[in-house]
Amino acid sequence: MAVLKSFYLALPCTSILVAFMLTPVLSCNSCTHRSKLAYYHSKRAIKAGACGYGSFAARLNGPNVAAASPRLYRDGVGCSACYQIRCLDPSLCRKTWQKIVVTDLTTNNQTDFVVPKHTFAALALPHKGAALRRKGIVDMEYERIFCEYKGHNLSAKVDSSSRYPDYLAVEFLYQGGQTDIVNVDVAQVGGFDWKYLTRNHGAVWNISNPPIGGLQFRFLVTSGYEGYMLWARKAVLPPHWKAGGRRLYDTGLQINQTALDGCTNSCDVNQRV
Ligand SMILES: *[C@@H]1O[C@H](CO)[C@@H](O)[C@H](O)[C@H]1NC(C)=O
Ligand SMILES: *[C@@H]1O[C@H](CO)[C@@H](O)[C@H](O)[C@H]1NC(C)=O
Ligand SMILES: *[C@@H]1O[C@H](CO)[C@@H](O)[C@H](O)[C@H]1NC(C)=O
Ligand SMILES: *[C@@H]1O[C@H](CO)[C@@H](O)[C@H](O)[C@H]1NC(C)=O
Repeated sequence: MAVLKSFYLALPCTSILVAFMLTPVLSCNSCTHRSKLAYYHSKRAIKAGACGYGSFAARLNGPNVAAASPRLYRDGVGCSACYQIRCLDPSLCRKTWQKIVVTDLTTNNQTDFVVPKHTFAALALPHKGAALRRKGIVDMEYERIFCEYKGHNLSAKVDSSSRYPDYLAVEFLYQGGQTDIVNVDVAQVGGFDWKYLTRNHGAVWNISNPPIGGLQFRFLVTSGYEGYMLWARKAVLPPHWKAGGRRLYDTGLQINQTALDGCTNSCDVNQRV
């Protein structure tokens, strides 16, 4: 982490390739993985998603959000990752892929994804929706894909747990690309006294005694073995930011990097190309 951070601080440009070695946690991105899929029984679960997007979750991909297993959720790093999924039961399901965005964590140890009931039902063949729901859990396959938000830049939302001016908690929505945000720094706009935020939980980053004035942000995103720094140079948050509320603050940038495929070998046993 220290190495990564020092590269990060040394780089002045808006978006730069950072040459550091990361554990290839995201390797084998192109692999198709087999797993199981279940659905949420409660509508509330979507809004209460562990990533902390609240009711904004449903704006990310219409209603097609998902809770991911701990190995995909990765303590919140996996929040906002996009996947395409499809059901593998030919007697009940279509063969078409459905795009989902991770907004929650599931501890259901039989599945990698739990989706809302209507997303689940949409995988069914005509007139098989009820039968699929009765089955409850089905074989599926998934691939991580590029997230694309037409008409939206990466946007900040001040979390309701914030207390101006001592404690800032912020989540970032509309995270495009096929990468993970692994570091967030904040400084007064125009300044260089960067302070790093900590991942509080899910997609929520926090800092006590944040800089004063309008706030600019820097993001480090990783894809496989590489990292990119993105710098939102403008005052993303105004000097008198307020906790909570429904306001989204445009960072003026969008993440569009694609994860490198760190696969040196062919896909694992439960993966197919
Ligand atoms: C999965 O969870 C259930 C219920 O929490 C538990 O009984 C079971 O032992 C778990 N299975 C595995 C493989 O961890
Ligand atoms: C930010 O979140 C982390 C992780 O939950 C926590 O340890 C830390 O105390 C929080 N920071 C503040 C200032 O509350
Ligand atoms: C995204 O940011 C760019 C560059 O700052 C800006 O020109 C554009 O209007 C923004 N897009 C949206 C949808 O806000
Ligand atoms: C990503 O965005 C940057 C800056 O807007 C642009 O120069 C680059 O071509 C984009 N890359 C892809 C793969 O779209």
